[in-house]
Amino acid sequence: MSASPTSDAAGSPGPAHVAIIMDGNGRWAKQRGLPRAVGHRQGVESVRAIITAAPELGIKVLTLYAFSTENWKRPALEVQALMGLLKSFLKSELAALHQNRVRVRCIGQIDRLPAGVRRILELAIAQTSANQGLVLNLALSYGGRAEITTAARRLAEECRAGLLNPEEINEELLSARLDTAGLPDPDLLIRTGGESRLSNFLLWQLSYAEIFITETLWPDFRQEQLQLALDDFRGRQRRFGRTPEQVSK
Ligand code: FPP
Repeated sequence: MSASPTSDAAGSPGPAHVAIIMDGNGRWAKQRGLPRAVGHRQGVESVRAIITAAPELGIKVLTLYAFSTENWKRPALEVQALMGLLKSFLKSELAALHQNRVRVRCIGQIDRLPAGVRRILELAIAQTSANQGLVLNLALSYGGRAEITTAARRLAEECRAGLLNPEEINEELLSARLDTAGLPDPDLLIRTGGESRLSNFLLWQLSYAEIFITETLWPDFRQEQLQLALDDFRGRQRRFGRTPEQVSK
């Protein structure tokens, strides 16, 4: 049997879906006596590097936590800087993403984004929708609790409309009403910046993800650090609730 494209030389499967909490931009800037926005700008360079490296390392889906529902509480100037970076990133990278067969999609409350960001995001999604390469899933104005709440409301509305019986509701039906519908759950969650929190990220979908936390700040996270996370993942035994003996059978 030939190794799958996500397998290493020893045949251990790599993660098909990697989700990343890109933390530490502010600290990276502070360490250098620079404004936080400079840290975010440097963070975009890491975004570029990781999008390029991901398919080469066998990753099929990459979800990046670029802006949370809670991030709206940051100072207006920082929010503005982040929105500006998102817009310029999508504008400058769209042609290259398309050429590299990347399919852009997003999760989150997109209607809360400034119109300019929304427009280029919608264009990127439409233009790359038929691409068969890496799925780049951008979490923008995203919050896990809000996402689950919306999915629950959708199910309730379907029940009220007589399309569904409450007894029929199961995990599959709820999953299909999340923003991530159609995507596999993440196999690996990476958090940069050393903190051990989920920060309202993919609360449903991360149920059985392996978690890798690195002290590396996001602006310093490049292909080499991604490779270390994947190597660590390959050393894990994923049991999905079973015993080690059951799994190794
Ligand atoms: C957390 O660092 C990072 C963010 C809130 C924003 C992440 C955004 C980018 C990397 C750039 C734009 C993204 C794309 C997809 C083009 P922090 O500011 O909380 O850092 P700190 O914990 O050190 O203060």
